[in-house]
Amino acid sequence: MKEVERILRVNHAGEYGAINIYKAQLFVARMFYKDIASQLEEMLVHEKVHFNTFNNLLISRSIRRCYAIHFWAFGGFSLGLFTAIIGRNAIWVCTNSIESTVLHHLEWQLDFLSKNDIEVHAAVLSIKADEEAHQEFGQTNGNSSLVYKPIFYIVRRATEFAIWVSTKL
Ligand SMILES: [Fe+2]
Ligand SMILES: [Fe+2]
Repeated sequence: MKEVERILRVNHAGEYGAINIYKAQLFVARMFYKDIASQLEEMLVHEKVHFNTFNNLLISRSIRRCYAIHFWAFGGFSLGLFTAIIGRNAIWVCTNSIESTVLHHLEWQLDFLSKNDIEVHAAVLSIKADEEAHQEFGQTNGNSSLVYKPIFYIVRRATEFAIWVSTKL
């Protein structure tokens, strides 16, 4: 089914982007904010598991990757670097912004998949708890003062745009 293929492709590409965000943030954190490096490492491990979950499904179903996957890698790395350079707060505001946008999409996907594809439904459900934990951590540790509001909205728009583009590609 075309819609299920699209869901798998966009999630696969998104997790690839997430891996690159954390890689960039870790690169900066290991130099300047060593106190949060272990937290970022833990999140990176989760994203790698998520990526493998969707990667295995793409392979077993002979579905091609998203054409924009390198755009996700580059965009993710740039976003990670940009937020990490601003500071710890920006890292967590970025996490909160991305994950809240992603969770919104997962809700829709889960609803659709529960009626159409049990295997993919289970895969999406398996990543949901991690993304919720990331979102909560970002929300509690990120500063919600006015200064960070633009970052929150820029990251949200960028995430929505990337998701939208990837459903076409
Ligand atoms: Fe993830
Ligand atoms: Fe995540």
